Amino acid sequence: MGDQKKLYIKTYGCQMNVYDSERMAEAMGGSGYVETDSPDDADMILLNTCHIREKAAEKVYSELGRFKGLKAEKPDLKIGVAGCVAQAEGEEIMRRQPLVDLVVGPQAYHRLPEMEAKARAGEKALDTDFPEEDKFERLKSRPKAKRGPTAFLTVQEGCDKFCAFCVVPYTRGAEVSRPVDRILTEARDLVERGVREITLLGQNVNAYHGAGPDGDWSLAQLIWGLNEIDGLARIRFTTSHPNDMTDDLIAAHGECEKLMPYLHLPVQSGSDRILKRMNRSHDRDSYLRLIERIRAARPDILISGDFIVGFPEETDQDFEDTMALIEEVKYGQAFSFKYSTRPGTPAAERAQVDDVVATERLYRLQALITKQQREIKDSMVGRNVGVLFEKPGRLDGQLVGKSDHLHAVHVEARGAAVGEIAEVRIVESGPNSLRGEIVTD
Ligand code: SAH
Ligand code: SF4
Ligand code: F3S
Repeated sequence: MGDQKKLYIKTYGCQMNVYDSERMAEAMGGSGYVETDSPDDADMILLNTCHIREKAAEKVYSELGRFKGLKAEKPDLKIGVAGCVAQAEGEEIMRRQPLVDLVVGPQAYHRLPEMEAKARAGEKALDTDFPEEDKFERLKSRPKAKRGPTAFLTVQEGCDKFCAFCVVPYTRGAEVSRPVDRILTEARDLVERGVREITLLGQNVNAYHGAGPDGDWSLAQLIWGLNEIDGLARIRFTTSHPNDMTDDLIAAHGECEKLMPYLHLPVQSGSDRILKRMNRSHDRDSYLRLIERIRAARPDILISGDFIVGFPEETDQDFEDTMALIEEVKYGQAFSFKYSTRPGTPAAERAQVDDVVATERLYRLQALITKQQREIKDSMVGRNVGVLFEKPGRLDGQLVGKSDHLHAVHVEARGAAVGEIAEVRIVESGPNSLRGEIVTD
């Protein structure tokens, strides 16, 4: 098609990177690019990377190596690295992998079209600034293309908490909230394009405090604002920090019908000693009391968490404290990781836990979480839940969607379509998903 060029984006890491990749694709649309899902026919390849653990960061270099042949065949192919590895390693990337043409940090995405032009002119382009201008404004989506029923919307970015293990405050910068009117406008636009469910994103989303019409709004106020949008049926948000779970946000879980009964609230460890060493600024007890209050507001809420095992100096007893906390909370979902040393973070300097010990702990923790997840999923059998259909299932006439509690649910469509929400009676709990029947009366 004429002089249309093709852009291949591969996204690693968290949901915010998914959102950023969409914005970058839209920005490059203005430079004549359309997205392709194969690197082989691309004119530009962009890796949107994650720096959170060593493995995630190293993957980028092996992936880049694989494009060597492609670049030899197609000298005009431009290769870019975006995201958190770009921010953290900058020029080092170009040194380690000379086939990279451009490196762009998460705060400079709006400058991508200019950078691409520079790369086309044969120069290397690097931008890892934290500029003054509002990248979200500059990245405003232009095309009114139809979208699927669910979307992410970044409302807050960056983090000021500096947990001792974490690179995010360095790669994403200081905590910044977007103004309320911009978010509401973007949300309305998404709904006009077919979106029914919006997940608000932020590294510390519940610390949101964006400028509103009458002073700063909290996340709860923003949720109530979104609640007014006709056609928007579901609101979610992620990721929250225990210290920013304000009373109005807890209350919203009990009162706002569009706010779904699911909360991702990472605790990382159940040991007070380790939490302190992690600089988490909450303790085991305050977390458990918080969970109690949230469940009092919304008894059926599904709690999800993140855990790090083998954090420096973690003893057997510290780990048992984490296991006991998990037993007490009962998680419907969780992400758990072996501690990974990140250069430049305070924990990197400390006595590391033996890898064999850490691996064993991770297995035990994951086995416990899997059991809890399964019990909670099984307990859905016999219940009626709302399901938003996201796509056709593998079998003929089948639809797959997500329940209010974010479980994947398969149903026989019986005339229902993608984008609709139906009341579904859960009849079976399989290994990965639930099966249900649309309630007709
Ligand atoms: N803002 C969120 C987490 C963002 S990072 C919060 O405060 O909880 C996502 C998850 O990656 C973290 O919750 C943590 O469990 C994990 N993580 C971060 N740094 C890590 C490291 N150095 N090693 C292992 N896991 C890590
Ligand atoms: Fe990282 Fe989350 Fe801690 Fe911020 S609060 S430093 S993003 S783990
Ligand atoms: Fe990874 Fe950056 Fe997200 S480090 S988890 S892509 S904020």
